[in-house]
Amino acid sequence: MIPVCEPALDGREAQYVHDCLETNWISSAGKYISMFEEKFSAYCEARHGVACSSGTTAIHLAMTALGIGVGDEVIIPDFTLIVSANMVILAGARPVLVDVDKRTWCLDPKLIEAKITPKTKAIMAVHMYGHPCDMESIMAIARKHKLYVIEDCAEAHGAEVNGRKVGGIGDVSCFSFYGNKILTTGEGGMVVCNDDEIAKRLRLYCNQGFQEPRFVHSVMGYNYRLTNVQAAIGLAQTEMVEQKVEKKRWIGATYNELLKDWSHLTLPVEETWAKNVYWMYGVVINDSLGLTKDQLMSMLREKGVDTRAFFCPMSLQPLFKGADSRFPDILGDFPVSVDLWNRGLYLPSGLPLTRQQIETVVEKVKECKPQ
Ligand SMILES: Cc1ncc(COP(=O)(O)O)c(C=O)c1O
Repeated sequence: MIPVCEPALDGREAQYVHDCLETNWISSAGKYISMFEEKFSAYCEARHGVACSSGTTAIHLAMTALGIGVGDEVIIPDFTLIVSANMVILAGARPVLVDVDKRTWCLDPKLIEAKITPKTKAIMAVHMYGHPCDMESIMAIARKHKLYVIEDCAEAHGAEVNGRKVGGIGDVSCFSFYGNKILTTGEGGMVVCNDDEIAKRLRLYCNQGFQEPRFVHSVMGYNYRLTNVQAAIGLAQTEMVEQKVEKKRWIGATYNELLKDWSHLTLPVEETWAKNVYWMYGVVINDSLGLTKDQLMSMLREKGVDTRAFFCPMSLQPLFKGADSRFPDILGDFPVSVDLWNRGLYLPSGLPLTRQQIETVVEKVKECKPQ
């Protein structure tokens, strides 16, 4: 089976982890945490990095540090992982859904202003499958309406908008280092930002709200800390980030080259203003293929090729059908995200992929078309 994703632990991971074990620094203090935070935030062209336990906790921390809570609304894309909606709800605010752009699969800036109300506090820009959002348009709307912009960069380490790295553009940006991400620490996350005060609050909430004097608390914090062992892996991964991003782009370019003349799939784009890092190589099935997404995925599984369906939109989540005032209004029209769910999937995209494996995947995909 060609797996849909695998990490590449081909740097100094073992050496740094060994150092943690030898020196007994395995918990959430230790030199690798600050080294990882500094190196990764510098890569993102941001001044501060606060390491935390996952991309999910990174988003919750971002909400909390920005003071977003009860009575507030946050604009999120309908097409995203459910964590975007869940963390807004966990913070006490309400997610407001906006459809995505047909080409980039990211939040459509043209549809945002119609959803802004006096309660809106932030826009969450989720960079999908490696392609960045149109951040220039999103930042202009946010500045005009005095809203925060939270970037969710879980799937887009190293992606760029007009030469600027994602993570350093919005007010606060969240990364995931889960095992399938471009950089991984197994489980892990980081929030990066440029504002000193926001950075201080992120650290405070990440670490149980500990202040001086110790054990006297003025905010309700969480234990969202990353361990030194995970940060050691993260540092080693960050040392190789350029190679990893280039490998992802090579995988994307190789698929593009092998599939470009086959008209039965719509391939991912790279807008002129964007650098796509092809976290996952997503494709959308055209009617001419004569197969549903589920049929294509199960035929490929039988042929030894692992795939994953695109995300199910928030507007179709059974969870949000309940009458709960915290849940998003799912009654709008979200034609693009619903269509992506019906016809989208991604092909094997792991960092260790070889040209021969990509050729095999493409050959198997082409074999699936009914004659
Ligand atoms: C867009 C997006 N946001 C957030 C997350 C959450 O990250 P984690 O799994 O590290 O909690 C993911 C994870 O896959 C994601 O794809």
